[in-house]
This record gives sequence, structure tokens and C-alpha cells, in this order.
Amino acid sequence: SVGLAGPALAQSFPTKPITVIVSFAAGGPSDVIARLLGEQMSKSLGQPVVVENVAGAGGTAGAKRAAAAEPDGHTILIHHLALAAAPALYNNLGYDTKTAFAPIGLVNTGPMVIAGKLALPPTDAKSFFPYIKANAEKLTVAHAGVGSNSHLCAVLMSQQLGAKFNQVAYRGTGPAMNDLVGGQIDVLCDQSTSAIPQITGKSIRAYAVTSAQRLDVLPDVPTMAEAGAKLDMTIWHGLYAPKGTPAPVLDKLNAALRTALKEPSVIEKLKAFGTSTFPESEMTREAHAKLFAAEIDKWATSLAAAGVKPQG
Ligand code: MLT
Repeated sequence: SVGLAGPALAQSFPTKPITVIVSFAAGGPSDVIARLLGEQMSKSLGQPVVVENVAGAGGTAGAKRAAAAEPDGHTILIHHLALAAAPALYNNLGYDTKTAFAPIGLVNTGPMVIAGKLALPPTDAKSFFPYIKANAEKLTVAHAGVGSNSHLCAVLMSQQLGAKFNQVAYRGTGPAMNDLVGGQIDVLCDQSTSAIPQITGKSIRAYAVTSAQRLDVLPDVPTMAEAGAKLDMTIWHGLYAPKGTPAPVLDKLNAALRTALKEPSVIEKLKAFGTSTFPESEMTREAHAKLFAAEIDKWATSLAAAGVKPQG
């Protein structure tokens, strides 16, 4: 692309398949959202959109790979709030979170669901929280690595209860959810996207959602406040390109993302996952950049206040 001015580059973009890096294992919520979007975006972009799972280090390995990719729009990253929380948890990410990425646009937002294996004795939220507090040392709580949503949820839960759990790290909540269903682990806090099918299929038990309101798709599952606990966690996903990607290319990707998110079948699926898209005014690159910057500061402050120190 040497010598091509921005507009000419955008006109020809994309000239080959686009890779979307997913920073967690296949089968988890990030992977599911990426595949759903990729399929739709490929229609308006005229090139295949291929998902590549680069798991490890709580999602920061994939972010690092994306940050170092050629800034031409052919390698992009899907990531959630953990991308913004990572600098509060890791000293040596290998990229500067605030400047390494060009936000393309926000995808969807939804809560986490605190769930347990079916064999766990408590059958409702009221008995669940006292039970896990009393049995913390005997229980295994799974997550997708330090800094992942599921880990942050476990940290907040443990802080809230004043209890220390045995944490088990996976490369994504896809495999963690499989082990919750299989009963090898006791508790998992995962995005509604992955939890809902297992809850409605009665393969796991849901105790509470981390949103202010109950989910339409899980009317029987109480909010944390109803369960007498305080844990507010709203997940949001966004697409990113490496910094230096030309603005016209970012605009084209933003347009393809927005077209995908207006597709009725996509809207329906995202709703069934207990998530929603953002209002039109928040679908711009600028709105995404603003939320990303605010979340970096928010997690730096709240994790420091919780006494969580960066590692490595
Ligand atoms: C995943 O896709 O595996 C999850 O988003 C990981 C996480 O808990 O952040």
C-alpha cells in the first residue's frame, strides 16, 4: 500500500480476507459475537472475515498481537471491557493501551451471570452467597485469566463477600463453561451470551445477574441487589484496528459494523443473548474512543481502590 493516499486506500480496501483476533478460546462469548459479526460484515466488505483465536494472559496476548499487526485494516481485534482494565492488572503488556488501538465502533453490551454447577447445594441467590462465603476454600471458581471479565467478576465477588476462592484459570470461558456443565468446577461468572443457553437448557444454575434490571430472557433470575449483594458489571464489546490505520479504512469498517448491527437476524440473536446494541449516536468511532478512555480510568481507579496491584 506504499504511496496510496488515504482515500485511494479506502476505495480498494479490503483487498484480501480480514482477520478478527479473538483474545479467548473458541466457543466463549467473545468468539460467538465475533463469528456472528464477521459473517455479516463480510457481506458488505466483499471479503471473508476470518476469526483467529489468540488466547492467553487474560486476553492480553491477543491484544498484543493486534497492536503489532500491519495497520491496514486487514487485521482487527474484538475485545471487551477487559482491554480497558488490563493496564491496572499487568505492568508489561507490550503495548500502550491508551494509544495502541484505533477504536472502530462499539458492538453490544450486557451483564454477567453468576452461575453454579447443578450439584451445588444452594438453589437460590439468597442461600448462594452465604454458602459460597462459608465454603470459599472448598469451592473452585473458574475464570478466563487475570483481567478477563470472569476474573474481574470473581475479584469483585470475593471482595464483596470478604471470601477467598480457589481460582482456576482457563484460556476462555468457553472451556470453563464446559467444565461447569460437567461439574469439574463449582462457580463461574460469565457473560449472559454464553450463560443463557446453559441456563435455559438446565445444564447449570443461575443465581444472579450483574445488571440493575432483570433480563427479559431470564425473568426468574434476580439482580445482585435483589440477592442482597452489590456487584454492578456491564460488559461492552468493541472492534479495534492497530493505531496508524488510515481514517477512511476505519470509516469503512465502522460502516460495515453498523450495517451488520442493523441486520434483523443479528439484533434478534444479540437480544436472545441478553445483550443489546448501542444507540445510533454511540455507534461512531468517536463515541467508542470516549467510552474506552473512560473505562481505562474507571478500572484503574476501582482496582487500585480494591487493593489490586498490577503483576509481571
Ligand atoms: C471469553 O470469550 O472467553 C470471555 O469473554 C472471557 C472473559 O471472561 O473475559
